Amino acid sequence: MEYTISKSKDFVDQEVTLKGWMYNKRSSGKIAFLQLRDGSGYIQGVVEKATVSEESWQASQDLTIESSCIITGLLKEEPRSPTGFELQVKEVKAVNIAPEFPIGKKEHGPEFLFENRDLYLRAKTPWAVLRIRDQVFRSITNYFYEQGFVRFDTPVLQPTSAEDTSQLFEMDYYESKMYLTQSGQLYLEAGIMGLGKAYDFGPVFRAEKSKTRNHLSEFWMMDAEMAYHNQQMNEDVQEGLVKRIIKDCLENCKEELKVLERDTTVLQRAVDEKFIRMKQYDAKKLLEEQGFKVDYNDDMTTEEEIAIGNHFGIPVFIEDYPFEVKAFYMKNYVDERGMKRAINADLIAPEEAREIIGGSQREDDYEKLLTELKARNYKVEDYEWYLNIRKYGSVEHSGFGIGLERTVRWISGVHHIRETIPFPRTTVLSKP
Ligand code: 4AD
Ligand code: MG
Repeated sequence: MEYTISKSKDFVDQEVTLKGWMYNKRSSGKIAFLQLRDGSGYIQGVVEKATVSEESWQASQDLTIESSCIITGLLKEEPRSPTGFELQVKEVKAVNIAPEFPIGKKEHGPEFLFENRDLYLRAKTPWAVLRIRDQVFRSITNYFYEQGFVRFDTPVLQPTSAEDTSQLFEMDYYESKMYLTQSGQLYLEAGIMGLGKAYDFGPVFRAEKSKTRNHLSEFWMMDAEMAYHNQQMNEDVQEGLVKRIIKDCLENCKEELKVLERDTTVLQRAVDEKFIRMKQYDAKKLLEEQGFKVDYNDDMTTEEEIAIGNHFGIPVFIEDYPFEVKAFYMKNYVDERGMKRAINADLIAPEEAREIIGGSQREDDYEKLLTELKARNYKVEDYEWYLNIRKYGSVEHSGFGIGLERTVRWISGVHHIRETIPFPRTTVLSKP
């Protein structure tokens, strides 16, 4: 087995070779403390002038911040070190000496850090957040595999809108127009009529003008869709998924969460306790009682979602929004107050993480869906294939989409969603 820092516990009292970078250094005339990283983790290397060759000592002196180096030494347990281990260095080889690194020890603003995202990726926060992202990705795919879902990759180039026509990125496609996908949902609905339960996972695009810490123009979404599932069954699957993601992160990302100084109390509660399920009407009423000036007929506002999250401290499914503010494909009913409501839920995460999942039961009646498409001025001929799902052996079905970056932001506890994707795309970020 090849040594990496993350495997240190298996190499105690052995000689190891670390291939990595030096991210910081303290040195006196006789001893140098090298802060080293290799991508898998962090460790301190101690170089004593008296015990290494002259070349090695010189190399340790030459190393600048972010120089690459190959270090051989004896791996020791070191309870005083934050990582629990230390390297007693025997040999230092400088691979490439870096010129002065633009990202220094002083505080930089986010503008600077994201203009230099290629270099900023070497810092500890991106290291921790992007490793959590990797874990979330793996938890999602493992969960769906275990639950018997089939991965079904939906097209990135789509001739129609899946969510909201105002958010479409348009492109030339030979002699016609195409749009970058906002969600693979509509195609998944066709997919499950062949496969039963299916999911996709890929980048989606929204021309969102919103300049908030919640919105990206390109983000990753996992859409899942299930035949013979109603909305309550849909929420059960979502709850199982979110619990699984968090449980895996708490178990496998301890080092990352420590680097981020994440208080995990609320995350643990989400694993242990049942999520809340409440109607949008009752959520608005609760907020009104707390002094909010609410509009019962509208979507939840940012402040309302945050307040609901704070109130319960665990994830909340807000169900049955006014149909008017939701997508055309949602199954709907008229409630006891005469309001047309979607059979849907948004999952609101606590700690200001807001909506991480949107999902619904789908309209499975051909005539009703056709009427709705016309009422919303969609070009019916573009959706003929989608209507066919309801024409030939239609069944009750439901699904949802989880935003990868929203989820990673909640779990990692970083403030802004741009931290959660390697190279963010927003209204203001398009380079590098
Ligand atoms: O709520 P949305 O728009 O739902 C859909 O697209 C459905 N077709 C999904 C489905 O039922 N299969 O988006 C789903 C999730 C949101 O809950 C949120 O987590 C995330 O995608 N999301 C965004 N994340 C980052 N930046 C944006 N601009 C986002 N818009 C939505
Ligand atoms: Mg939504």
